[in-house]
Amino acid sequence: MITDIVHIDEKGIDFDSKELEKAASIIQSGGLVAFPTETVYGLGADAKNEEASAKIYAAKGRPSDNPLIVHIADISKLNEAAKEVNEMAKKLADAFWPGPLTLVLPKHDDIPYATTGGLDTVAVRYPSHPVAMALIKKSDRLIAAPSANASGRPSPTLASHVLEDLDGRIPMIIDGGQVGIGIESTIVDCTGEVPVILRPGFITPKMVKDVCGECTIDPGIIANDSSVKPKAPGMKYRHYAPKAPLTIVEGPKEKVVSYINSQLLSGKKVGIIATDETLGNYTGGKIISVGSCDDERSVAHNLYGALRQMDGLDVEVIYSESFETPGLGEAVMNRLLKAAGHQIIKV
Ligand code: TXA
Ligand code: MG
Repeated sequence: MITDIVHIDEKGIDFDSKELEKAASIIQSGGLVAFPTETVYGLGADAKNEEASAKIYAAKGRPSDNPLIVHIADISKLNEAAKEVNEMAKKLADAFWPGPLTLVLPKHDDIPYATTGGLDTVAVRYPSHPVAMALIKKSDRLIAAPSANASGRPSPTLASHVLEDLDGRIPMIIDGGQVGIGIESTIVDCTGEVPVILRPGFITPKMVKDVCGECTIDPGIIANDSSVKPKAPGMKYRHYAPKAPLTIVEGPKEKVVSYINSQLLSGKKVGIIATDETLGNYTGGKIISVGSCDDERSVAHNLYGALRQMDGLDVEVIYSESFETPGLGEAVMNRLLKAAGHQIIKV
């Protein structure tokens, strides 16, 4: 299969352009289209079409028990994805949609188990990216879309990342440039009394609490080992992993830098994930800055790209600084810890 790449700029989208027509017709006929969202690139298919969903799993090499997120571009469509929408979900949708938030609710009978990985619940998101919205509206379907990476690889934040993983496996990629946020949406389980965060993201626990009065975090995503099973099936997989083993070094910045510098003497080819502030303090190695330590958004924005870049640098071991900031830092560290297989050194 030849993978067609089309460019659609998020500014001034022409709803009748031939690119958008083509993408919508692929979705309508049960095919796959990769497209940008504000979080990461998604790999879309008609959510109500079992065969289309099955193609997503095949293209990504994704385990079949890992459910897909159903994307909508009109709040009224929420009732086509979910059977019941409680007050908690309505409040959260009202506060954060369109945006980087996914709600888990009881599934509508029309959503096949092939899309929900056999679960009776469905994850729903209303993305804010203009290209995503245009594609969903133009195809007039609910679009099931996981991140558009091969299973186990970092989520794509550029169309070229999608091509790297899925070239020849899907008919079309819509290139809308680099995505804004850079890490996947926050997932909130709305099926109980209290909202539960199943995956941390740009929408923080505090923001959820401010809207609902309460918010808890799934113990499965905090545990450092596999003793507690996460409730979002996808969170149990070792994800985002670069090819060389990654270790996070945590502690005061000077000590982190001097520890990593000492590892340069090992004779191995070392990759370093650093920040703008520390970049100049390393005495060797292949260094990539993910942004400023004072700007957690820049770190989220660049993290997956940096992990992918490391694979191209021919390094044998990778050390990363730690990014423990109060807001988005939690979501960033969740991804980094997974990429590192929870290997941390405290200095
Ligand atoms: O930002 C995002 O959410 C991106 C963009 C493309 O929208 N999508 C994304 O999808 O990250 P994916 O498939 O890579 O991650 C979906 C996560 C998985 O961890 C999956 O297990 C969880 O959502 N999930 C989906 N349906 C669920 C459900 N019914 N209950 C619990 N977790 C669910
Ligand atoms: Mg994913």
